[in-house]
Amino acid sequence: MKRSGPARPARPGRAPRPALGVGKLGRRLIVAFIGVVLATLLLYILVATMDTNRDIDHFVRGQENAVASTAAMAAGTAFHGGRWNLADLKTVTDTAAIAGAGAEVLDSGGTVLAKSPDYARFPATTQIGRPVVTRGSHVGFVRVRFGPGGLRAAVGRLDAQRFRARILAFLVALALAIVVSVYAARRIVAPLERLLIAVRARGAGDRQVRITDLRAVGELGELVDAFNAAADEVDQRDRAQRALVANTAHELRTPVAVLQAGTESMVDGVTEPTQENLASLHDEVMRLSQRLDDLQALARANSATIRLTVAHENLAAIARDAASRLADVYGAGDVRLQLDLEPVTISCDYQRTLEMITNLMTNALKYTRRGGTVTVETRQTDQGDACVRVIDTGIGIPADELPRVTERFFRGAGSSAMASGSGIGLTIVDELARAQRGKLDITSRPGSGTQVTITFPLDPALAAAGAPAR
Ligand SMILES: Nc1ncnc2c1ncn2[C@@H]1O[C@H](COP(=O)(O)OP(=O)(O)OP(=O)(O)O)[C@@H](O)[C@H]1O
Ligand SMILES: [Mg+2]
Repeated sequence: MKRSGPARPARPGRAPRPALGVGKLGRRLIVAFIGVVLATLLLYILVATMDTNRDIDHFVRGQENAVASTAAMAAGTAFHGGRWNLADLKTVTDTAAIAGAGAEVLDSGGTVLAKSPDYARFPATTQIGRPVVTRGSHVGFVRVRFGPGGLRAAVGRLDAQRFRARILAFLVALALAIVVSVYAARRIVAPLERLLIAVRARGAGDRQVRITDLRAVGELGELVDAFNAAADEVDQRDRAQRALVANTAHELRTPVAVLQAGTESMVDGVTEPTQENLASLHDEVMRLSQRLDDLQALARANSATIRLTVAHENLAAIARDAASRLADVYGAGDVRLQLDLEPVTISCDYQRTLEMITNLMTNALKYTRRGGTVTVETRQTDQGDACVRVIDTGIGIPADELPRVTERFFRGAGSSAMASGSGIGLTIVDELARAQRGKLDITSRPGSGTQVTITFPLDPALAAAGAPAR
């Protein structure tokens, strides 16, 4: 796949171009590839040669046996009326000569009757003997010996040709293996090399580095894409974190300035420390405290370990506690609060679970208009789990924002206009739920409301015994 975008210049510290342009891993790949090709080729040649040699040998043997039998039959025609006609025996030596062989004919007493002139030249190891039989009686014997000429010479020439053809095929295959393996190794190693350089550059603090001008297939392409995506994600988080720090500093500055001015004017006797003036200063202190709470919660949620004090708790009791703490704020916001609480005992951290439910109820209140309703339910589910659900009739969450609401610092476009916040509430809820083996689920219909559910696995021992909760 081709990644578009501007090509980046080579980074400093880049290693000198290795031999074949493939580095150590590439060289190993090439050696392995060529090794496999050579081994396969050699094995094939070995097996094919053994097979063909056996067939040719079998064929030559058959032909030689046929020559010997023909010679014996020719010798039989030279025996008439109980006597050998020596002149007729020439057909025997002629038959042998045509096949590049020598022959001798013996009578039944072992006397040599006829013999090829070069018979002694042929090796005795190639000799084939045949009895000469006429009208059912054994009248003599024919021996045929074969030499390097004739059929064997043709086979020898064929062997030499086969050998040359195999060497040629071997060299062509080797050249092809080298070319293909260098190409394949380059295709594999080049993206890895680029990735290594990019990772090192990032490690050295270069946040801009991305791999954009590389063609890589399959998993290598995915690896490069994953690197780019991870770099984008980290950068996006960094930006969000910097924005939060800037926003928080900005938000802290206003109440601090108001407090400073207010207290200074009281110290200077310009304003009276009346209840009204002190209440206004107290409001600023509360704003400061809220911002600090946000920062503290974020730090807690970010810390790798969330310390939990787990005990058997009644989920309904925790939800009721959260509801009673928020009753006044709900009243002030003119949002009706309904409770539908079924007692169900789970193993959890009371304070953390209270924090989660409070967070969800705060969201429900923040994103529901006056006159709306928020319902809090606790249930034992059909699957045997326990759940707490906060349902509101608020503005809802657009489908494209829904998958992102648990992201750190994410705030919906519509909700930002409706209420203030830092975009960390649901991040914390999600992390706390997971720390307690729970699961957060959010469904929403923009314009009609949102339903947020935290499901906790029910302790099997608790479910069986119906253990009493605190
Ligand atoms: N009940 C809800 N109704 C509509 N939108 C919601 C609801 N709960 C969450 N959201 C959306 O999800 C976003 C993230 O929620 P989250 O609680 O993490 O942050 P926040 O409420 O904006 O700020 P914070 O909780 O940090 O004060 C919200 O900005 C809002 O867009
Ligand atoms: Mg929130």
